[in-house]
Amino acid sequence: MNIVVAQSGGPTCAINASLLGVFRHAGKYGEIDKVFGSVNGIEGLIYGNLVNMSDIITTDDDIELIRQTPSTVLGSCRYKLPDYKKEPEVYEKIVNNMKKNDISAFFYIGGNDSMDTVMKLDAYFKANGIDIKAIGIPKTIDNDLPETDHTPGFGSAAKYVATTMQEITRDSSVYSIPSVTIVEIMGRDTGWLTASSALLRVNGESAPHLIYLSEKPFSCKQFIADVKRVQKKHGAVIVALSEGVELNPDEIEENFQSGKNDIFGHKYLAGVARSLEKIVTKEIGCKVRSIELNVMQRCSSHLSSKRDITEAERIGGAAISAMLEGKTGVMMAFKRVSEHPYNVKIEAVDVNLVANRVKYFPTKWINKKGNDVTKDAINYCLPLIQGEQNFRMKNGIPQHYVLRTALPGKK
Ligand code: F6P
Repeated sequence: MNIVVAQSGGPTCAINASLLGVFRHAGKYGEIDKVFGSVNGIEGLIYGNLVNMSDIITTDDDIELIRQTPSTVLGSCRYKLPDYKKEPEVYEKIVNNMKKNDISAFFYIGGNDSMDTVMKLDAYFKANGIDIKAIGIPKTIDNDLPETDHTPGFGSAAKYVATTMQEITRDSSVYSIPSVTIVEIMGRDTGWLTASSALLRVNGESAPHLIYLSEKPFSCKQFIADVKRVQKKHGAVIVALSEGVELNPDEIEENFQSGKNDIFGHKYLAGVARSLEKIVTKEIGCKVRSIELNVMQRCSSHLSSKRDITEAERIGGAAISAMLEGKTGVMMAFKRVSEHPYNVKIEAVDVNLVANRVKYFPTKWINKKGNDVTKDAINYCLPLIQGEQNFRMKNGIPQHYVLRTALPGKK
């Protein structure tokens, strides 16, 4: 049999490791012949843009470099499959391309929206008596997938956020004048990644002094009061702010968000820290800077967590085992079996319990005032950022895997 794997949604530092997990684990089983890669997620299967993974991963060097390369080797997409009862044509194209290539299993590495694709394809296959398996492999820096302890990609992003926060803290404290630095962190409607900034405290830092997550209502008035209070003690105030924090339009001077949505209806969120920067200037008048960590938090693989990368590869491999056991319509998930020492096992969970659903940061891990997180958040995140990759460098720069030939359908 042949199988196909694809990557979807926002990139991470670990998504290529999961691709390797699928490819390398498949290679251990005689019954799996070819592993195809679908270019730009599900779009590759719709338009017939497939590549034989053995043509692009040919050496041990390729494997090592892919493991340390952020982004997606196969490209990505944000594509929402229509309802198959209303628009079966797209599904027919996918199945035709699968049948043409003797593909009997589909592996999709992605987040909540990508699990929607797995769920819909699995339902279509079952409804039409098509013997093709569909298996999801989790991935997202947002860490917002239900049914799994955490998602591959989160640990590396959290390590980057905590490390960068520490560097920003050093830089921001050099002058004797009062200042405010507001750091905007990704995560959509959830504050997992923003909460990871609190990891600094394990090393005795007091920053970030204020942490605001998307899960709690936000008041600009309260924010200014919080900043004024902290500034009396620390002078240089460091704020961690979720990109998904919603500002009351009546309280702000200017809205920097584009107001646009992606295909799944998610708002493009960047800009909230800039709005707060304006408010601080108006209300406090001190030196203020807003910093958007932006895509660096999902592609800074030089700061990736070794544990994250190792687990990402492991869960990709586990997806192959699950498929060979006959599973379909599932997403692979981590279950934390012990805290000390940290240990996880991997299970297959019903993809219907994950698709389009969101796992919010627990409100019981947010302090009463809504401007900090509790120790539970730190205990949860700490094991996920452990270990450093042994990086291959070239001319003083981390070496990346770069495709030698263009992928089909890719410009
Ligand atoms: O879901 C991952 C994520 O990085 C979010 O944290 C962020 O809001 C979003 O993707 C950004 O989307 P895009 O990749 O389309 O810019």
